[in-house]
Amino acid sequence: AVMVARRASARARWRRAVALLREFEEGCATPPARLRQVVDAMVVEMHAGLASDGGSKLKMLLTYVDALPTGNEDGIYYSIDLGGTNFRMLRVEVVAGSVVTSRKVELPIPEELTNGTIEELFSFVAMALKDFVETEDGKDDHRALGFTFSFPVKQASVSSGSLIRWTKGFSIGNAVGKDVAQCLNEALARSGLNVQVTALVNDTVGTLALGHYHDEDTVAAVIIGAGTNACYIERTDAIIKCQGLLTNSGGMVVNMEWGNFWSSHLPRTPYDISLDDETQNRNDQGFEKMISGIYLGEIARLVLHRMALESDVFGDRADNLSIPFTLSTPLLAAIREDDSPDLSEVRRILQEHMKIPDIPLKTRRLVVKVCDIVTRRAARLAAAGIVGILKKLGRDGSSMSSSGRTRGQPRRTVVAIEGGLYQGYPVFREYLDKALVEILGEEVAQTVVLRVTEDGSGVGAALLAAVHSSNRQQGSI
Ligand code: GLC
Repeated sequence: AVMVARRASARARWRRAVALLREFEEGCATPPARLRQVVDAMVVEMHAGLASDGGSKLKMLLTYVDALPTGNEDGIYYSIDLGGTNFRMLRVEVVAGSVVTSRKVELPIPEELTNGTIEELFSFVAMALKDFVETEDGKDDHRALGFTFSFPVKQASVSSGSLIRWTKGFSIGNAVGKDVAQCLNEALARSGLNVQVTALVNDTVGTLALGHYHDEDTVAAVIIGAGTNACYIERTDAIIKCQGLLTNSGGMVVNMEWGNFWSSHLPRTPYDISLDDETQNRNDQGFEKMISGIYLGEIARLVLHRMALESDVFGDRADNLSIPFTLSTPLLAAIREDDSPDLSEVRRILQEHMKIPDIPLKTRRLVVKVCDIVTRRAARLAAAGIVGILKKLGRDGSSMSSSGRTRGQPRRTVVAIEGGLYQGYPVFREYLDKALVEILGEEVAQTVVLRVTEDGSGVGAALLAAVHSSNRQQGSI
C-alpha cells in the first residue's frame, strides 16, 4: 500500500511539473497574429518617441550621425568599445576607402571597476588605450577616436552626450547626467595620450556604419547580445521633436533604445515579473529582459526553480536552482534537443554547472523544453521588432505604409546584425529567421537580408571617427 501511494504521489508531482510547463508555454506564446500586434505597437511607439522627448518609453535618441562612411576614408583610426561583456580597443587602417588592417585587443573589465566611479573606470580605459596606441604607433598619437558607449546617451553633438541611465546591470553611481565623452577626454589627457573622442556612438550605430559601408542598402542595425537595441536611418523631417534644430536635409541615424520598448501585447509571464524584481533597473528595459543574453538563462532558471519547489522532479539536491543567474545564457544555448538521444550533454551541464544530480531522461526533456520556450519567444520578439522598423520605413510590403508609399515591389533591404545570440546561437537564429517569414510572408521576407556584421560596433565607430574628424569627408544620408 505504501508503494502504491508513493507511486501515485510521484505521478501527481510529475503532473504538476508538466502543468507548470504548459502554463509557461502558453504564457510565452507568440503566434503570428500576436507578433503583428507587437509590430504595430512598435511603429506607434516609434512615432510617439519621434514626436517628443518622453513621448514614449522608446526613446528614439538623436545621434547627430547624418553622414555614414562612403568608402572615401583614409588614415589610421582608433576605437574603444565599452558596454558589452568585454572592453575592446581597435586600430583600423583605411586606405582609399578599404579597411586594410584592423587589430583588436579585448580585455575583461575588472569587477571592482563596474561599481566604482566613472573616473576610475575611464582611467583604466585611457591607460589601456595608451598602451595599445604606443605599441601600435609609438608616440605618433594624433588620431581620431571613435568611442562606442553602449548605453542610452542624450547626444549634444556627434562627439558629446550625457548618460541617461545605466542598463545591463552596470551601476556606477556618479555617471548619470555626465558627458561621457568629456569624462573620457579628461582621462585621456590625464594619461598623457594626445587623443580625443571624435565620434561618440552607440554600438548599434557603429554596426550600421560598417553595414552601410559594406552594402548601401543597409538601413538599420540590430544588436542581440548581452543587451538588445536597434538603430535606423530616419528622414530628418520625420523627427518631429527637433524640427528647426536640424538644418541638414536628408537623414539621421536614430538610436531607438528598443530594449525599453513596452506594450501590453508582449507575452509577459509571472517569471518575467520575478526577473524584473531581481534587477537594478526595475520597470525598465522590458523588451530587453525578454530577449537578450543577460536575462534568458535567468528566466529559464526561475521556471525550473518553481518546478523544483512544487514538484520535486529535480530531487532534493537542486539548491543551486535557487541562486539567481546561475544558469547563464551560453549554458541555456547548450541545452538542446539534438544533443544526443539520451541528452547526455544536458545531464553534464546540469551536474557540473547546476549541481543537480542525475535526473531521468524525461526530466531532462522537460529542462530542454523550458529553455526552448525562452529562446523561441526571445527570437520571435526580436523579429517583430525588426519588422516594426521595416514597417516604419515602408519596407514591409504592406499596402499603405507610414511613408505613404503604396503597394509595389519592395526594395532590397539590409539589416546589419551583431551580438552573440544571433551569431553564436544557431537555434535562436533559425527561430528569428522563421518568424520574419511568418510575419512578412515569403515574398517580402526574401527582400530582407539580415547580415552579420562582425566587430561592426568597433570598426564602424572608427569609420565614423574618420567621417567626422576635422578633415570631414562629404556624404550625407
Ligand atoms: C542596452 C543599451 C543599448 C545598447 C544595447 C546593446 O540595451 O541600453 O544602448 O545598444 O544594450 O548593447
